[in-house]
Amino acid sequence: MTLFPTYSRNGIRPAKGEGAYLWDESGQRYLDFTSGLGVCNLGHRPPRVQAALAGQLDALWHVSNLFEIPLQEKVAARLTEMSGLSAAFFGNSGAEANEAAIKLARRYGQTKKQVKEPEVLTFQSSFHGRTLATLTATGQEKVKTGCGPYPDGFRSLPFNQFSSVKEAAGENTVAVMLEMVQGEGGVQPADPEFVRELHRFCAENEILLMVDEVQTGMGRTGSLFAFQQYGITPDVLTLAKGLGNGVPVGAMLGRADLIDFFGPGSHASTFGGNPLAMAAALSVIEELTETDTLAIARRQGLFFRDFLREKLSDSPLVREIRGRGLIWGVELSVSVAPLVQTAREKGLLVLAAGSNVLRLLPPLTVTRRQLEKATDIIAGGLAELEEVSEHESVSGI
Ligand SMILES: Cc1ncc(COP(=O)(O)O)c(C=O)c1O
Repeated sequence: MTLFPTYSRNGIRPAKGEGAYLWDESGQRYLDFTSGLGVCNLGHRPPRVQAALAGQLDALWHVSNLFEIPLQEKVAARLTEMSGLSAAFFGNSGAEANEAAIKLARRYGQTKKQVKEPEVLTFQSSFHGRTLATLTATGQEKVKTGCGPYPDGFRSLPFNQFSSVKEAAGENTVAVMLEMVQGEGGVQPADPEFVRELHRFCAENEILLMVDEVQTGMGRTGSLFAFQQYGITPDVLTLAKGLGNGVPVGAMLGRADLIDFFGPGSHASTFGGNPLAMAAALSVIEELTETDTLAIARRQGLFFRDFLREKLSDSPLVREIRGRGLIWGVELSVSVAPLVQTAREKGLLVLAAGSNVLRLLPPLTVTRRQLEKATDIIAGGLAELEEVSEHESVSGI
């Protein structure tokens, strides 16, 4: 064993990817509805990103942030223009983007609000990363075991319950961190009324609303950012996953008056925003904004919703089907692990979120036929699971 066994791997050894397909070392083809955990939003090896990377490989890879990086300025300009925010900081992952947001919020709290022990409110079932701060911000106990002591300054509240925020927020509260659709937590969309109330409350109390769109950003929910569907603009936005379509890149964006709280020396990343990563991010942004990818993804999302409802909702094992755009969750009354395995055996790769939610993250470029085929495979797997469950309940297992 030469790797720490931190992951339960599925046994597949991918060798090649194109669009919505992966091929393993033996040439077996899979329809990939995991998109590398919501990263390859444009599919595997999208031509525009591939060309941008190839061009950049021939020019310059990395220089460090001691230098001015024109591509970084370009990506920041595009992201701020797209999001309505004013400044960007680049790192390499979602956790780093959130870590930057948390540091910015603490600096804002200590300087602007004179809060000595700033507190960030987060939500139960949320997921914000695996660094110590983002792990503490995460509202799931299962990812925390054995890593203490944890940093102070975080509190997890019930999701979609505004009254609990109102009750918990106090003098030390400097920010609220929120996913618009909780991905790892079971594909749970935030309730529009909850978001509106939270947004108003944060504005009235000078609390930063920090929206974590690491999983929902870059088109995943059918709009560039999920917050756009809620009629709000956050104070801080974090992105990663789809931003580089497989090249590691994370970004933290903030509103204009926050710029001064992140002055020289306050934060840094050696690799963050290097030319290679920025070439990928810029080409992803261009693909999303200069083609009809998003409009098509929205339409495919509706087909997918209809296929899932049509073909799965009659199953006695299905509790709820929920999602937006091309992030969908199918909540079962039993463990999804056997269904994930059956789908794999039939050539479809899907994810679990928690123990009983099937998480489906096809690329935004998925075709209607691929969506229907995937739904048929899931329906077949569910039928098999029903038989097993029936047999188990009859024989009292
Ligand atoms: C909403 C959200 N935030 C943060 C993260 C952490 O991102 P990373 O694994 O790139 O650090 C994830 C990862 O799944 C995520 O879904």
